Amino acid sequence: MTLEEIKSLDKKYYMNTFGDRTPICFTEGKGIELTATDGKVYKDFFAGIAVNCLGYGHERLTRELCDQVSKLIHISNIYYGESQAKLAQSIIENSCADRVFFCNSGAEANEGAIKLAKKYFTMKGENKRIEFITLKSSFHGRTLATVAATGQEKYQKPYKPLLEKFIHIDINDIDALKNAVSDKTAAIMVELIQGESGVHPLDREYVDTIVDICKKNDIVLIVDEIQTGIGRCGELFAHQLYGIEPDIFTMAKGLGGGVPVGGFAAKQKFADAFVPGDHGTTFGGNPLAMRAGCVVLDELLNNGVIENAKTVGKYFEDKLNSLADSSGKIAEVRGAGLMLGVEFKEEIAKEMGSKMRDKGYLVGVIGTKIFRIVPPLIITKDDVDGFIDALNSVLEQA
Ligand SMILES: Cc1ncc(COP(=O)(O)O)c(C=O)c1O
Repeated sequence: MTLEEIKSLDKKYYMNTFGDRTPICFTEGKGIELTATDGKVYKDFFAGIAVNCLGYGHERLTRELCDQVSKLIHISNIYYGESQAKLAQSIIENSCADRVFFCNSGAEANEGAIKLAKKYFTMKGENKRIEFITLKSSFHGRTLATVAATGQEKYQKPYKPLLEKFIHIDINDIDALKNAVSDKTAAIMVELIQGESGVHPLDREYVDTIVDICKKNDIVLIVDEIQTGIGRCGELFAHQLYGIEPDIFTMAKGLGGGVPVGGFAAKQKFADAFVPGDHGTTFGGNPLAMRAGCVVLDELLNNGVIENAKTVGKYFEDKLNSLADSSGKIAEVRGAGLMLGVEFKEEIAKEMGSKMRDKGYLVGVIGTKIFRIVPPLIITKDDVDGFIDALNSVLEQA
């Protein structure tokens, strides 16, 4: 089909939640490159919003998924699953958590984490612990509880009154944090680097204060690692970069290398709050998604992919900072590993994004001033050099 034919079907039948999409339809990918219906090839520095960590057409992931599809795609969680057990082992042996639960998406993972924190206090008989503290400009998902958790009015407004009691405080403001905490606080939930609103890292002192407050008051610390996790920031999880141990953390995006999968992991004391029947899923933890997760974790941990995210990420950040100095058009470069944000001085992000696309480079554009750069974790320094040359040349025309 041509792009025009696909577009007209979409406009007629699909709910209008995505508005006017970027007028491209991809048909296949290899490495970090995507090919569109018109044959044009793009280098992808957005990775399906920080998802396709091994790039496209990854030889081993493709082979193992084809093998899995030919054997078994889905089976109920009333039975045991080999890949599910192995992926659980891999997550737990490489993190501070003791137990994990697998679901299908990031929002579902956060819902599960919120339920677990609530159940923890129900079990303890502390029924007034009903408040959750989250941060302004955060993004935690699109279900009702995660929309309530998300500290952005635009996502909440159409759905008020919201179900849960979430208090949203300014990022990196220690006084606001201290003022928000009370004997009603059940949990504090944060992204360590806010992705969706523009790649905003939390200060280390602020994070240490959160950890301290949670410990002293038996408040559950939930870290949303849906975007920052699975090697994205140069460690398996971003909380490892910060040197902290959350009580519960969530994951999704990169975990399946493109196959939908999410999960939440908890320390034993919190995991124990769930007893049989408290939580469940039909599709979560299915053999296909779990096989994908096993390949991704093995490639990340044992085949140098996390190391690559760390070294190429640092190289990328340095190059962007040099470009900031030479062009005079970039206000700030932020982030860690291969989760990088570029904030321009002027409102040129949309124009720059579309000019980069014309040059065959895909990036995420946030608002009017920010690029979100979250490429596959397999990119090379040469790929970065190509991106920097392209950005340099579009900035020269700005
Ligand atoms: C930090 C964070 N949490 C939660 C979500 C929701 O994940 P999903 O879209 O898989 O439900 C996202 C998605 O962008 C995210 O970036």
